[in-house]
Amino acid sequence: MEVVIRPDADDAARTAAGIVHRALAEGAGTLGLATGPSLLGVYRDLVRRHREEGLSFTGVDAFLLDDYVGIPAGHPQSCAEVIRRELTDHIDLDPARLHRPRGTASDPAAEARRFEQHLTETGPVGVQLLGIGGNGHIGFNEPGSSLASRTRLKTLTDDTRRDNARFFRGIDAVPRHVITQGLATIGEASHLVLIATGPHKAGAVAAAVEGPVTAACPASVLQLHRHVTVVVDELAASRLELHAYYRCVARHKPVGQRY
Ligand code: GLP
Repeated sequence: MEVVIRPDADDAARTAAGIVHRALAEGAGTLGLATGPSLLGVYRDLVRRHREEGLSFTGVDAFLLDDYVGIPAGHPQSCAEVIRRELTDHIDLDPARLHRPRGTASDPAAEARRFEQHLTETGPVGVQLLGIGGNGHIGFNEPGSSLASRTRLKTLTDDTRRDNARFFRGIDAVPRHVITQGLATIGEASHLVLIATGPHKAGAVAAAVEGPVTAACPASVLQLHRHVTVVVDELAASRLELHAYYRCVARHKPVGQRY
């Protein structure tokens, strides 16, 4: 795992977008997308790179991590809609190649199995972008999620519903259920890139990176993966005990070693 500490959120977003750019330029055919405010800067920079630097998504398959169950198709806060609005409407990704768990399916549990199978057949994902919830969730894998979990129907914690209430008309409008890729599903991607910014993420980042591997902090499962880059700004890094070492690694990066 490499922890990359950037001065601010914009710099962190550019770093994460740069990793995606390089992977696609080198022929990666699949990309994993997450939603959440921390990811928006990454998507803005990917759109900019598409417009200004020739980054192309032609032939790329993109997979969403998760979506809410119980809100109508086209709801502005459905993850599929956020990704369409913030990213795919502005790049040359074929809309037919944007794959997502459909929260509107009449049988969400069966939909979760369909999505998992589709991902298994089309994957593995090359670069998977991730955010982290204040309680350490990735995707919508809440604390207590099995480290071996696959895509499934989950119930949100009230903490997460409270966090996300600002995007809805209050907490009562936030769905209770979601379909999310499981922790083991996420772990099949070749390269996991987690981005976290702001002081409210500092505790979750420290637990994920330096705490024990435990279902109580789902993001701690990243410690078991062979290729993880955690990109944080100074504020999200503020509770990392080994921060001096991470900075030392950055200063003395061996020539040619990449993220
Ligand atoms: C939602 C998403 C997660 C994301 C989290 C935090 O709950 N399902 O994938 O990690 O938000 O997002 P952010 O870091 O942007 O606040």
